Amino acid sequence: MDQFVINGGRRLTGCVSVSGAKNAGLPVMAAAALCDDVCIIDNLPYVKDIIIMADLLRYMGAEVSLSPNGRAVINPRGLKNVIPPEDMVAKMRASTYLMGILLGRFNEACVPPPGGCSIGARPIDQHLRGFEALGARVEEGAFLTLRASKLVGSNVYLEASVGATINIILAAVKAEGVTVIHGCAKEPHVVDVANFLNNMGASIRGAGTDTIRIRGVQTLRSTSYTIIPDQIETGTWMIMAAATKGDIVIENCIPPHMEVVSAKLRKTGAEVIEGDDFLRVRASGRLNATNIRTMVYPGFPTDLQQPMSAMLTCANGRSIITETIYEQRYRHLEEMRRMGAKVQVEDRVAFVDGVERLYGRTVEASDLRAGAALIVAGLMAEGTTTISGVKYIDRGYERIEDKLTSVGADIKRI
Ligand code: EPU
Repeated sequence: MDQFVINGGRRLTGCVSVSGAKNAGLPVMAAAALCDDVCIIDNLPYVKDIIIMADLLRYMGAEVSLSPNGRAVINPRGLKNVIPPEDMVAKMRASTYLMGILLGRFNEACVPPPGGCSIGARPIDQHLRGFEALGARVEEGAFLTLRASKLVGSNVYLEASVGATINIILAAVKAEGVTVIHGCAKEPHVVDVANFLNNMGASIRGAGTDTIRIRGVQTLRSTSYTIIPDQIETGTWMIMAAATKGDIVIENCIPPHMEVVSAKLRKTGAEVIEGDDFLRVRASGRLNATNIRTMVYPGFPTDLQQPMSAMLTCANGRSIITETIYEQRYRHLEEMRRMGAKVQVEDRVAFVDGVERLYGRTVEASDLRAGAALIVAGLMAEGTTTISGVKYIDRGYERIEDKLTSVGADIKRI
C-alpha cells in the first residue's frame, strides 16, 4: 500500500503542465467502441481509471493499445456483447458507460452495478429512465439488463447528471431518428465527448447547453482526437499555488473552464493571471476566508470543493462550505481535524474557522479528491504528513508526486 510522505511549509514555484481530462477520456474511450473502425485518442492521462477502461474494452473483445504517453489506439471490430466482470466494473464509476455503448451497439446490455469513489449516494435512475425513453426495457437484479428491439429517438428529461447525459448520448448516437435530451449537464467533458463523436460522423448539436439534439446515424468512421486538459487537475494546481503562498504557471489548460475557481481564489486574496492556454496563480501573506457552494458547471465544481476547503482551513476568518452534489465529501476535513483544523460539519454544510497553522500527522484519503485535499493540507502543514489511501489519488492524478517535486514540494512515495 503506497503512502505519500510530505514535509510541508514550502512555497511551490515554477511551471506544471496539466494532463488530459480523466472524466472526458473515460467516456471518449468508451465511445470509440461505437465506431466501425480504428480510433486514435491522444492526451489521455495515464492514470488507473483509464487503464481499467482499456482493460474493460479489451475484455469485451476490442483491441486496445494504451501507452504512457497518453495515446490509445482502439479497434472495436471484435467487440462482443459479453457481461463485463464484476470486480473490474466495481472499480470505477465510468463503467456505467458500458451500458450506453452496449445498448447503442447491440440493443442489449447486461452489466453489474458500477463502483466509484464512496462520496455519497450515486443512483443511476436518470440513466435508466433515459434508456427507457429510447425504447429499452430495464430489469434490475444482481445485474442490470437492458434490452430493446431497436432504439428510437425520443425526448429524454434529465437533471444535469454528467454520467446520464453522456450515457444517453452514447445510446442515441446510432438510434433511429432524433433524440432531444433536456436538462443536460454542461461540463466541459460532456462537450468533449460530443465533439469526439461528431468527428466520427455523429450529429450532436447543443452540447454545453441545457438541450442536446442528436440525429441518429448508421455508421461512425475512424478518427483521431485529442482530449481536453483536465479542469479538476488545473484547479488543484491553482489551489496548491495559493495554499502554499506560491507562484505557479499552470500550462496546457483552458482558463475559461476555470472562471468560477479563479473568481473564488481572487476573493481569498490570491492573484490569478489568465493567458490563452495557461494560468499563473500566486499568493503572499495569509489568505482570506470565503464561502463555497458546489454547483453543476459553470458553478463551483464538487470535485474541487475538497482541495479548496482544505486550503481554507488556514485562511483568515470563517468559511462556510455547502456541498450540494454529494453528501459525503467532507471526510478530508474530519481527517484534517487531527492536523489542527477547526471544522464543524452539519449535514451538507461545513463551517471552517481558519487557523494559523496545521501540523503534520498521519492521515488517510477516503477518495480521490479527498486525497488531493490531504496533499494540500500536507503542503501547508508544519512538519511531516503521511497520507495513506494513495491508490485513490492514482486513479485520477498523473505522476502527481513528480509534478509536485518539480515545483519544489518535498514529497515521497513510500
Ligand atoms: N444523480 C442521480 N441520479 C442519476 C445520476 C446522478 O440522482 O441517475 C445525482 C447524483 O447522486 C449526484 C448528482 O446527480 O448527486 C450528480 O451526479 P452525476 O451523474 O453528474 O455524476 P457522475 O456522472 O456519477 C461525474 C464524475 C465525478 C463528478 C460528478 C459531478 C466521472 C467518471 N465522474 O460523476 O467525478 O464528481 O460527475 O461533476 O465523470 C471525480 O473525478 O473525483 C469524480 C467523483
